[in-house]
Amino acid sequence: MKTILIFVSTLDGKVTKWGEPNVRLWSSHQDQDYYKKVWSVSKLIVMGSKTFNTDKFSPSSDHQIIVMTSQPEKYKSLAIPGQIEFTNETPIELTTRFINKGHQQMLVIGGTHVATSFLKAQLIDEIWLTIEPKIFGVGDNFATGAKLDIDLRQIQSEKVNDQGTLITKYAVLRH
Ligand SMILES: NC(=O)c1ccc[n+]([C@@H]2O[C@H](COP(=O)([O-])OP(=O)(O)OC[C@H]3O[C@@H](n4cnc5c(N)ncnc54)[C@H](OP(=O)(O)O)[C@@H]3O)[C@@H](O)[C@H]2O)c1
Repeated sequence: MKTILIFVSTLDGKVTKWGEPNVRLWSSHQDQDYYKKVWSVSKLIVMGSKTFNTDKFSPSSDHQIIVMTSQPEKYKSLAIPGQIEFTNETPIELTTRFINKGHQQMLVIGGTHVATSFLKAQLIDEIWLTIEPKIFGVGDNFATGAKLDIDLRQIQSEKVNDQGTLITKYAVLRH
């Protein structure tokens, strides 16, 4: 199974503007269209409870949404079997479960804490990063609070507008 981490970031590595959760206030239309397209073809989508709580995620039989939380019971009334579930599994437990179920791909959409815990556990195979030509100075970094040392190899980069938004893909190198 290929595990992909997807983020939109500024040149200075910020994935929120000054901590404000709504990314669509500053990400380009090209990124938003791309993200919608990736979402629409992704069967298995993983996120942290904070990301879940900052946006509207409509359950659908086309997707299986997994929300990571230490308190799954708190979200019990929102769970829909096969469409949206709340789990306190670790990243490795979650990944192993879906490998065993025969899934081909898992999309991790953040936020920063969930991204970091997957990176730390060396469970990410590719990072799909949109780089917006902006600098915010203050905001959440896509990896946070852990010493990491990850080498990547670029496998795709496309300039998608005149300002120079780059839609990139990197493979994580295993040593
Ligand atoms: N620019 C982008 O592409 C992008 C993408 C996604 C999100 N974001 C932004 O990122 C922000 C949210 O990021 P965040 O880091 O604050 O929250 P997050 O990663 O979405 O969620 C973190 C929460 O998930 C729960 N959790 C359960 N298991 C975990 C594990 N193994 N590792 C980490 N967390 C685990 C914990 O909450 P409980 O146990 O208390 O439930 C934890 O506080 C939002 O502002 C959102 O807008 C940006």
